Amino acid sequence: MSHKSNLIAEDIHQYLKKQEEKSMLRFITCGSVDDGKSTLIGRLLWDSKLIFEDQLAALEADSKRVGTQGEDVDYALLLDGLQAEREQGITIDVAYRFFSTDKRKFIVADTPGHEQYTRNMVTGASTAEVAIILIDARKGVLTQTRRHSYLVSLVGIRHVVLAINKMDLVDYAASRFHSIREEYETFAAGLGFEDVTAIPISALKGDNVIEANGHTPWYQGPPLLEYLETVQVVDDAASRPFRMAVQWVNRPNLDFRGFSGTIASGTLRPGDEVVVPSSGQKSTVARIVTMDGDLSQAVAGQAVTLTLQDEIDISRGDLLSAPLARPIHTDQLRAHVVWMHEEPLLPGRGYLLKTGCTTVPAQISDLRRKVNVNTLQQEPGKTLGLNEVGVCNLSLGKAISFDPYKENRATGNFILIDRFSNATVGAGMIDFALRRADNIHWQALDINKQARAEQKGQKPRVLWFTGLSGSGKSTIANLVEKKLHSMGKHSYILDGDNVRHGLNRDLGFTDADRVENIRRVAETAKLFVDAGLIVLVSFISPFKSERQLARDLLEPGEFIEVYVNTPLAVCEQRDPKGLYKKARAGQLKNFTGIDSAYEAPEKPEIVVNGAEKSAEELAEEIVREVFG
Ligand code: ADX
Repeated sequence: MSHKSNLIAEDIHQYLKKQEEKSMLRFITCGSVDDGKSTLIGRLLWDSKLIFEDQLAALEADSKRVGTQGEDVDYALLLDGLQAEREQGITIDVAYRFFSTDKRKFIVADTPGHEQYTRNMVTGASTAEVAIILIDARKGVLTQTRRHSYLVSLVGIRHVVLAINKMDLVDYAASRFHSIREEYETFAAGLGFEDVTAIPISALKGDNVIEANGHTPWYQGPPLLEYLETVQVVDDAASRPFRMAVQWVNRPNLDFRGFSGTIASGTLRPGDEVVVPSSGQKSTVARIVTMDGDLSQAVAGQAVTLTLQDEIDISRGDLLSAPLARPIHTDQLRAHVVWMHEEPLLPGRGYLLKTGCTTVPAQISDLRRKVNVNTLQQEPGKTLGLNEVGVCNLSLGKAISFDPYKENRATGNFILIDRFSNATVGAGMIDFALRRADNIHWQALDINKQARAEQKGQKPRVLWFTGLSGSGKSTIANLVEKKLHSMGKHSYILDGDNVRHGLNRDLGFTDADRVENIRRVAETAKLFVDAGLIVLVSFISPFKSERQLARDLLEPGEFIEVYVNTPLAVCEQRDPKGLYKKARAGQLKNFTGIDSAYEAPEKPEIVVNGAEKSAEELAEEIVREVFG
């Protein structure tokens, strides 16, 4: 089975050519070290002899010294050794290993199986075609088996090997194998796998890993390696409708305008029509240009530059597509989201969504339900924590083109990014476009913001007061409004305590509720600005992210952030409503500044300190600065 062919010595070119022609299979192993995962991968690597000679020598020496397998080689040591190496690079979440046999090349994604590594497993599985789900024959189908299987099905893997391991410890009993297989098949029936192949193995003794070994005469199927070498994972990416996200518009001179990217799915030839889904504009492919010359055909996976016969508008991020099988183009969608960050997902918060070569602002407009990855039960929830999975409605700042993930893994996935830290916080699989997006259109109105503002003789805008409870926001805002009123300006105050009596009566003070509180107020402020008013918003608004969202809803210059920076000690001493006292006594939870965070503005337009001057003086200063 070793692929260390004599060709390497005899004819290196011939050898490399053979390597290139071999098909590639990507798979993931799901299980924990206790299930024998390391031993299994170690044995696959060992028997394909793609381990460096010095590692082999060290392994044999180590096994004799510390191994748990007597004189035999302890394959688990091999992986543990590599693991230590990879722990050096803390940025690497998933270890990928490459090996090959005479028939195929393999990339195996190896991730720990515990629940706290769900995000790693999802990352590793997202590009795999086959999953090996390891079961300890003594223990049978466990909670983790169900979790692994659900995640594997969620990321669209259709071929599963149920590797029932440690058969040596159950005396190679056929009855045990069959009962586990039946239990698993009943459970997995709803997960949409194309095939589940159960194989009785002993990774330790080598039964049915590379070859049968004689202990399981009752098993007629292939050993694991043979399965991996022969499984047909019809690479249907090439036969799906054409999709290519434009990575950049290549315009070296006036005579050449090409669109570069990697073909996500489908096959393309010069003369084929393509459409830009965002505009509906069509053209015909003139040339398919590559570094090695023009192609008469290109397929999924190839990086190419296309030139078209017509001058149509195409920019970076557009998903060039087959006109007769277009992707969906919308700004409202339903998706399964796996949360990958310690900071929980907060519906209403502004994130960035990246798919293909496009990045757009996005909000989870509704967390419909959470999926318990252990029981597969659906549960209600207000947020998603690290490693949790939810079904979400998303609302985007700009429409994107995509396919449902079930139809096309390449064009149906996205990641969510935190706007401030730039960290990847979630991974999504798109289910469908929300129909309501199709049926709701902007109604054209004749009187617009400008007309309303002109009638009032003022420039509408928002003065957004943020700061701790008791900092003086509302007192100052009230005085500012009185001054504006006497100047003949048309204004309105949105005050936290007041709005929470009506529009936001259903919201409390958890992080999730505060996000929603501010989202609604930001949208309301935007409407009032559209009405031509000067809006004074007085909310603690403790999070940067939501204040940014409010700013982004308005036009440049319309949002004036006023940070009422009164020290906590002063606010607490004032304690106008006795709430700090209650919070300190533990009678009021999640109180800002005590046990709930306040994120100070970084670049507010105006900063005032409520401890240094009177509210009257501060109001005077603000009016002078903004309207003076
Ligand atoms: S925000 O954080 O969501 O912006 P908001 O400005 O609407 O808060 O409401 C703050 C007001 O609610 C405070 O001025 C205070 O009177 C009252 N309040 C009651 N409970 C809390 C709490 N746990 N944290 C902060 N304010 C609270």
